[in-house]
Amino acid sequence: MDTRFAITNYHDAAAVTKQLDDLISQPIYTIKPEALKAYEEEYYGKKCVKSKEMIDEAKTVIPGGVQHNLAFNYPFPLVFTKADGMMLYDIDGNEYFDFLQAGGPTVLGSNPPEVREQVIDLLNTCGPSTGLFHEFEYKLAKKVVDSVPSVDMFRMLGSGTEACMAAIRVARLATKNKNVVKMGGAYHGWSDQLGYGIRVPGSKFTQSHGVPLYLYKHTQEFFPGDLDSLERVLRRNQFTGGTAAVFIEPIGPESGTRPIDYDFNKGVERLCRKYGALLVFDEVVTGFRIGMAGAQGYFGVSPDLTIFGKVIAGGYPGAGGIGGKK
Ligand SMILES: Cc1ncc(COP(=O)(O)O)c(C=O)c1O
Repeated sequence: MDTRFAITNYHDAAAVTKQLDDLISQPIYTIKPEALKAYEEEYYGKKCVKSKEMIDEAKTVIPGGVQHNLAFNYPFPLVFTKADGMMLYDIDGNEYFDFLQAGGPTVLGSNPPEVREQVIDLLNTCGPSTGLFHEFEYKLAKKVVDSVPSVDMFRMLGSGTEACMAAIRVARLATKNKNVVKMGGAYHGWSDQLGYGIRVPGSKFTQSHGVPLYLYKHTQEFFPGDLDSLERVLRRNQFTGGTAAVFIEPIGPESGTRPIDYDFNKGVERLCRKYGALLVFDEVVTGFRIGMAGAQGYFGVSPDLTIFGKVIAGGYPGAGGIGGKK
């Protein structure tokens, strides 16, 4: 296992949470309307004319004008024509540092030539898809299995959302249990069953409009970082069909915006073993980013199933996968 990790000192979760609480208790200062207006006029009004024109057009055929939440922007989304390493360039020729990196998956930077050349070669020889098998599929699976300690087998899927859905099925089949438990506030894609308790811990079904309540009959949440809260749910589930899986974002819910203690994941693993549930590490954000061995390598935990997102294809869209023990 590659034991180099991108985290040198793990934070003190209680101290960070206190800082967050202190910050939230501060009064909210809004930007002065004149200052905002000047910025809108000076920057967006003068330098982003072509973006505005295109987004106005796009709004007539795309809801909101963009295809991904990350692309929303005030006063209007920008249109990007070039991405290179750490730089982005918009349609008006403005240059930006790319702190977003596609929301995570382009860990090598945007459009690295080593990856691009391989992709072009593949397109030249096979096109985008044959529906059959290519040697790269084996090579990728081998690389994942060799890198991530708990993964003996790896299956490619279309997205992180889809991989989480697959994990629920595998967990129910493997354990014969019914319930699925997740950390409040965590995001595991937008499938119906996992739309529970998203963004705000304790929010249950209230953030997922359009999902009938009965679909949450076997989904529960527990309070972030709170092992007692998890154990209460697991204990209760023993009388209502048992727990098939506990889903974890290993650095804390919502990409780690609510910090958790270093020992928390090990505690979750222990409880999963005690109550016969599979432990599912959702490494969409952490996989190959915290290190080649993922968050599980960093925390020294051996999940039963691991979820991967677009990082698996270096940021090329429509990719995800599930890995697990044989
Ligand atoms: C932790 C986590 N799980 C799952 C997903 C869903 O992945 P996808 O957008 O590929 O469906 C995301 C997406 O941001 C995520 O951050």
